[in-house]
Amino acid sequence: MTACENRFLRLHSGMIYLDSNATTRIHPEVLEAMMPFLTDHWYNPSSGYRAARMVREALECAHAQVAALIHAKPEEIVFTGCGTESNNAVIAFLASQSDHRKKIITSAIEHSAILRYCDSLADVYGLVTEKIGVDAGGRLLLDDFSEAMDAGDAAMASIMWANNETGMIQPIAEAVELAHRAGVPFHTDAIQAVGKTVVDVREVPVDYLSISGHKFHAPKGVGALYIREGLRFEPLLRGGGQESGRRSGTENVASIIGMGKAAEIMKKRLDTHANDGVAELRDHFERRLITEIDGVRVNGALAYRTANTSHLSFEGCEAAGLLILLDEYGVQCSAGSACMTGKQQPSHVQTAMGISASQAKSSLRLSFSLFSTRAETDAAAEAVKKAVNKLRSVQGGPGVGPVQVFT
Ligand SMILES: Cc1ncc(COP(=O)(O)O)c(C=O)c1O
Repeated sequence: MTACENRFLRLHSGMIYLDSNATTRIHPEVLEAMMPFLTDHWYNPSSGYRAARMVREALECAHAQVAALIHAKPEEIVFTGCGTESNNAVIAFLASQSDHRKKIITSAIEHSAILRYCDSLADVYGLVTEKIGVDAGGRLLLDDFSEAMDAGDAAMASIMWANNETGMIQPIAEAVELAHRAGVPFHTDAIQAVGKTVVDVREVPVDYLSISGHKFHAPKGVGALYIREGLRFEPLLRGGGQESGRRSGTENVASIIGMGKAAEIMKKRLDTHANDGVAELRDHFERRLITEIDGVRVNGALAYRTANTSHLSFEGCEAAGLLILLDEYGVQCSAGSACMTGKQQPSHVQTAMGISASQAKSSLRLSFSLFSTRAETDAAAEAVKKAVNKLRSVQGGPGVGPVQVFT
């Protein structure tokens, strides 16, 4: 074992992981499904012999498994290299079709994999990105969205299904209806929704939908794009014509097989309401913090959250300090989204919700998973209590800043 591996194992063991919106642990059954494709069945699925055909058939099975999770058809699923690629590919295609319609309508709370890409298209197609706001609960302002659809200049709409920082589920069914009534193609970044809440493309007829494997216990570096049957799509990557010509590049076979297995596991959990258990743990955690610590606030419209996400503010405690202490006390979580860690400005999501700068800077995101346990949840609540008390004691009590961290 290298010194680096040794250090990693020491850091990892005994930690309570509450950052599942950043990434999730690979499920043991997923790893088991992947292993043969990393060892014995390493063949290129495009090759002509029987062993390669068997790999090709396994990929077809993965298409069916991922399709089933969102109630789509296998041929409507295109595997990609990650959720970011799925988002970029569909926005790039829709931008290329924009013609005289010069606006991309999205929301103010999207992930940077949408916002940054949309902004980059100003130089290529002269497209302007209009970001629709959200209410104090973190949900899309539908009246403003409706107005943007009716203005007649929208080339596309892209609204996320669930937000990565707050877990807030957006009114996608209503938004799709408004977009389609105005003849505007509709994409959703469903990366934080798939596997956590029911996503059914028959009930909610989005045109394009992005998925990322590592958010639901598949490996990192594999994603998928749903393209509704009959809709046009031009690929971002061109070459060998894999994925029915919609995403060239020799397939990341083992990871795709893993994503298929993870989709099967998550579908079973959704069908049996097993994710309710995750929500119970999250709610128990929040109840404990609210009753045992002063100045705790749960952010967002609680009735609309994904089962696993808790977004909390701790009056008078900077999240940066809490993160350091919690890491020391054995709890791994995030301030805002993972991409914001280390930055001191409030996140764009919290700003859009009208959360004050001081409250935003005192916010943590704790995201549970199917591996979370009651014992871990209680231990995490104790750790948060200890960290908040320590920070408040060094700075003189709630509401007093600035915070300095002495560990
Ligand atoms: C909402 C959302 N969109 C896109 C992404 C990017 O996905 P990936 O890491 O697979 O590129 C993430 C990941 O954090 C996300 O949460």
